[in-house]
Amino acid sequence: MHDTGEWQALSAHREALDGVHLRDLFDRDPQRGERLVAETDGLLVDYSKNRLTDETVAMLAALADRTGLRHRIEAMLDGEPVNTTENRPAWHAALRRPDPPPEIRQQLDHMAGFAADVRGGGWQAVVNIGIGGSDLGPAMATSALAAYADADLDVRFLSNVDGAHFGATTRGLDPARTLFIVVSKTFTTTETLANAITARAWVADAVGLEKAGGNFAAVTASPDKAREFGIDANAVFAMWDWVGGRYSLASAVGLSLMIAVGPDDFADMLAGMHYIDEHYRTAPWEENLPALLGLISIWNRNFWDWPTYGLLPYAQELALFPAYIQQLDMESSGKSVRADGTPAGVGTGPVVWGQPGTNGQHAFHQLLHQGTDIVPVEFVGFCRPNHPHIEHHDLLMANLFAQAEALAFGAPDTGDPHRSFPGNRPSTVVLADQLTPRSLGQLVALYEHKVFTQATVWGINPFDQWGVELGKTLASGIAAELTGAATPDPTRDSSTQSLINRYVACRRGVTR
Ligand code: F6P
Repeated sequence: MHDTGEWQALSAHREALDGVHLRDLFDRDPQRGERLVAETDGLLVDYSKNRLTDETVAMLAALADRTGLRHRIEAMLDGEPVNTTENRPAWHAALRRPDPPPEIRQQLDHMAGFAADVRGGGWQAVVNIGIGGSDLGPAMATSALAAYADADLDVRFLSNVDGAHFGATTRGLDPARTLFIVVSKTFTTTETLANAITARAWVADAVGLEKAGGNFAAVTASPDKAREFGIDANAVFAMWDWVGGRYSLASAVGLSLMIAVGPDDFADMLAGMHYIDEHYRTAPWEENLPALLGLISIWNRNFWDWPTYGLLPYAQELALFPAYIQQLDMESSGKSVRADGTPAGVGTGPVVWGQPGTNGQHAFHQLLHQGTDIVPVEFVGFCRPNHPHIEHHDLLMANLFAQAEALAFGAPDTGDPHRSFPGNRPSTVVLADQLTPRSLGQLVALYEHKVFTQATVWGINPFDQWGVELGKTLASGIAAELTGAATPDPTRDSSTQSLINRYVACRRGVTR
């Protein structure tokens, strides 16, 4: 892609913007802040505080055309095998269609029936056991939609193999009245299985092993393994191999969320996702929110060479949103080769990090304002809160707007270098009316398709994650050594080996 005329033209155009301050761009063009925005269905993206012009947007749109983005979007949304290294579709969009294929409809009905039984079934808590895509989506969304949840039911999330997480997650719960949902596409993920086995023993201590299976449900593409674990077939929900883990919130992976908020709110979330799917399919690039976010990300990553961005929701309910998008973007975009196996040739996945405002302002914003590196920021905020404390909300949003303003424009030079705020630091504001199931669905789909837009320009496959495999294989070999089930590997490096030796010596005698 970097040898195309469109890419070269953008490089030259970027050089021409050297030395141009955001202040100049706004001074010269009083309508800039009203014009460089895109909006659909109550969701607004203001990208005017990025170092770009109308010409940049037109050139990025030409780049999108050159990559065949429109055709690629249709292929993805229509279920073609766009995940080429695994030769299958990445058809998460089918999960949220108003007219889904029969197997999806049946699954949604099965989930709704199960959720109703659980909500009315006298359970104290539901604990989702899963990791990565089998945890982050439902955990993020359940926390985001806390205002819509059934207050009588405690929905918790257990992911880390660290036993401390099991202890903290089950603290205060009655094992007999705790329902565990084991979510694992493969049903082989070590962390999830270790937690599921410990949970089963914990429940069995209270109700007996023969009855413990009644406290478990599963979501998996390997139903046989779930049944072998002792889970009733009626409590096993399918995962399809054409839905990737980090794209699976709308599938049965979202069962814990559906139990928390109920089937109607879950359906509203799906409707919000579908709305953005169709918007992405049809809107011109200049009005297309996911395409714009993705193309601006390319602009910042590849033409300005900024390798990271901060994702800062000004909404405590979205505290887990940065972690969710971290997996979505970094597991999808962390690739060095194109889909055809040739080198990517340009920088790909940016590093994503963040936490909610205003907390971040008292932690890392110093570097954003005065550090030597430029770090673009994406703010997410809402006009109306889900709580009655409007005065808090006004303060919260005042801070969001002030941060974006200060980053862009800085402050007049006082002559004191320590108090100098140069500004010219880019940011984008995503502003929605209110955090609702529908707008959350919109946000999730917005970012999914942002990531797809980037991947299409880079020519990479965003739907595989082979890089995760090496660590898993090595860890299982080392785990066998730690328990004495295997002898040390003589080919291992001296650093890893001495750390293992030190650990084994130190842990000796610890039996529980
Ligand atoms: O972290 C790697 C990964 O493969 C993720 O892509 C996936 O979401 C997670 O592990 C969990 O996998 P599973 O659902 O099979 O347990």
